[in-house]
This record gives sequence, C-alpha cells and structure tokens, in this order.
Amino acid sequence: MNERLSGPRSEVSNHFYELKKMEKMLFEELVQQRQSDRKYDESREVEEDKLMKCIEAARLSPSANNAQPWKFVAVCDPELRSQVGRAAADMGMNKFCITAPLIVALVLEKQGLMSTVGSVLKNKEYRLIDVGIAATHFCLQATALGLGTCMVGWFDEKKVKKLLGIPRSKRIPLLITVGYPDNPQHDKKRKALNEMFSRDKY
Ligand SMILES: Cc1cc2nc3c(=O)[nH]c(=O)nc-3n(C[C@H](O)[C@H](O)[C@H](O)COP(=O)(O)O)c2cc1C
Repeated sequence: MNERLSGPRSEVSNHFYELKKMEKMLFEELVQQRQSDRKYDESREVEEDKLMKCIEAARLSPSANNAQPWKFVAVCDPELRSQVGRAAADMGMNKFCITAPLIVALVLEKQGLMSTVGSVLKNKEYRLIDVGIAATHFCLQATALGLGTCMVGWFDEKKVKKLLGIPRSKRIPLLITVGYPDNPQHDKKRKALNEMFSRDKY
C-alpha cells in the first residue's frame, strides 16, 4: 500500500513523519512523488507557514531577464474559494476544485522592457515559460512539505478575475489547488524516452 495511506496518524506524528521524510527526500524522490492530486483530506487545512514556504520557492524561481512576471493570490476565504473552485468545474471537469482546501491563482504581470523586447525579437513567450517554472517551484515545494497540488488550466478566467478583483486586462494562466492528498500515488504516464530525447540531432 502507498505509504501515504498506510494508516491513521495523529496530527503531531504526521508532522514529525513529514519532517523526517523531508530530511531524506532526494530531488529524484521529490520529482517522482509530485503528482496531480485531485482528492484532498477536507478536514486538514494548509498551514500558513507551509503556504508561505511554497510562495517563497516560487519567488526564488528564475525568469527571463529576472522579470518575475507573476503575482500569486491565495484564496483563503472558504466561500470565495468554493466560488473560484466552481469557476473551474464545468463540463465534467475539475469538480475537485470546489472543495480543495486552498486555491492559489497565478496572475501574469508585466515582464519589463528587456523581456518584452527579447520576447518580440526572439519570438518567444518568456512570460508563460516564467510562470510555468514558478508554478513548478511552488508544487515541488508543496510536495516536499507533504502537500498535494494540481495545476489547473481549465477554468472560467473572467469569473475568477471578477471574484478576486483582478483587472480585466490581466491574464490568469493557472490556478493551483493545494491540500493534504487523500489519494494514492499513481503511475506516471509518460512518453518513452526515445520519443522525447535525442542526442546531437532532432
Ligand atoms: C498547464 C497545465 C494545466 C493543467 N490543467 C489541468 C486541469 O484543468 N485539470 C486537471 O485535473 N489537471 C490539469 N493539469 C494536470 C495534468 O493533467 C497533469 O500534470 C498530467 O496529466 C500529468 O500527471 P501528473 O501531474 O500527475 O504527473 C494541468 C497541468 C498543467 C501543467
């Protein structure tokens, strides 16, 4: 059985267990363990210090010209959160968002002159790359803290902007749901190595 589900633990021993695990977690293990969790223990809130560690990990992530073109909005108010969750749940998608213990919205911010010029001259969407990396930092840090996350790109952006007071001119590339996972580790379905990697030639 997956070690996450190997039996009930008290809150204190849970915390201790997670700390012990963190000490030992190698990067390879972290990458293996990170997965999209779509079921959370609804009785456990995400602790403030853990949220802020995830935010700090995102803050330290790299970006083109160090533009840091993001703002993270943590939706902490339960009613507002379920409304944001509902904006992601339609056409049978993303129902789990409605009850997720925490939702974080990533807002795309200005990337600064250098990055804008670079994006145009080199025809690259640096801002989206930057936000993707920051989101990954966030999620990997969450995993290291025993939390589960899911990046969510399917949602009614207009509705979320309205709910969170985000100006209409801004974009929200992603929401991230966060909570203590209540589902087992699943296998990673991935392309074979030879489909996604080659040496010297395409
Ligand atoms: C940009 C982006 C958007 C995503 N949007 C959704 C989504 O709307 N709903 C969802 O359940 N999962 C979403 N995912 C999660 C992917 O389905 C998941 O990462 C992929 O299937 C690989 O599984 P894993 O994360 O468990 O390894 C998204 C992931 C990314 C990176």
